[in-house]
Amino acid sequence: MQQQSRRHLLRNLAALGGASMVVSPRELLAFTPPRDLNDPTNGMVRLSSNENPYSPSEKMKQAMLDTHADLCRYPNAKFGDLAELIAEREGVAPENVVVTSGSREGLNATGLVYGMNGGEILTCLPTYRALLTYAEKFGAYINVVPLDKELQFNLPELQKRINANTKLVFVCNPNNPTGRLLDATKLQAFVRKASERTMVFVDEVYFDYIEEAGYPSMSSLVLEGHNVIISRTFSKVYGLAGMRVGFLMARADIAARLRERLMSGTNIMALNLAKASLEDNEFKSFSLDKNKEGKKMIYASLDKLGMKYLPSHTNFVFFKTGAPIEEVQNKFKDEGIYVGRPFPPFMDWCRISTGKVEEVAKFTGALEKIFS
Ligand SMILES: Cc1ncc(COP(=O)(O)O)c(C=O)c1O
Repeated sequence: MQQQSRRHLLRNLAALGGASMVVSPRELLAFTPPRDLNDPTNGMVRLSSNENPYSPSEKMKQAMLDTHADLCRYPNAKFGDLAELIAEREGVAPENVVVTSGSREGLNATGLVYGMNGGEILTCLPTYRALLTYAEKFGAYINVVPLDKELQFNLPELQKRINANTKLVFVCNPNNPTGRLLDATKLQAFVRKASERTMVFVDEVYFDYIEEAGYPSMSSLVLEGHNVIISRTFSKVYGLAGMRVGFLMARADIAARLRERLMSGTNIMALNLAKASLEDNEFKSFSLDKNKEGKKMIYASLDKLGMKYLPSHTNFVFFKTGAPIEEVQNKFKDEGIYVGRPFPPFMDWCRISTGKVEEVAKFTGALEKIFS
């Protein structure tokens, strides 16, 4: 089956306009960012990790101070408080919510539960790989379908490939690194049908940035009772990446199974700040406005240079440079800017996160210097 899936991948990649290099599924999963991309203290402009570049508001500072008195307590009771607030906002029940240490812990726990002992996980690449790479360490087999010609998750092909060994289908919407958003009706239909045969995971970490008014979360399918797990985070628009707090939504029995298998859960500061951030509408609108402003500047600069890019529903933009990504990374590094990692097979594309307006201006200046 592995060989068959590899042949299929190679055939599809050959037909794919944007892909400049053909690599195996193994290589698609293998890239690890160099260490210094993760060092926030070296004065570089960090447009590589899709963070919210703005620190949380003064209101949040107060919430931090207010937590001081609770630091000597175990956080157990606070998980329920946050789950209740999330449930109320998302229109699900508290037992449908699993609070996690960043959404990453939810991805890992899911990868472990469904991937261990040779479970097959079906997905498209490139996408966010945490669940896949973690599951692989416990023996999962990752069955890879390339993105379609529009660089979207190929839902019809995923549907076709579901087989008796498929334990989970992973869909990221909007997808990282493309920033593309699936048609909601098509995704809902896919989840309903696929979940009759396997578990479906929809990563909605960038949900808040979606620029299509009224776009629905797949969480309504949780209430319909389907085999579906949704992930969200406080790391992006709420500006709490360093705190590590996120959540999953799933049917109560699925949620309980995952909750029992978390490694650490999160801490009392993260729980209190996540709660406070849900009330801080001013910071959320500020972050969304600044993100739109940053993306507009990036689009304008790419348009000026005639460079191809994908309009994005996230806080980053994926664009085609036509040059090997490692070279492009080094050129931007020389200009004091970290850009995103390689996303095979798109080895001549680059992912740039929206930083503060002045950071984006530095990026567009460097882009024009390097590519004009
Ligand atoms: C699609 C996607 N999912 C999940 C995550 C993990 O985010 P966190 O663990 O901070 O919630 C990221 C991080 O960038 C991401 O891009």
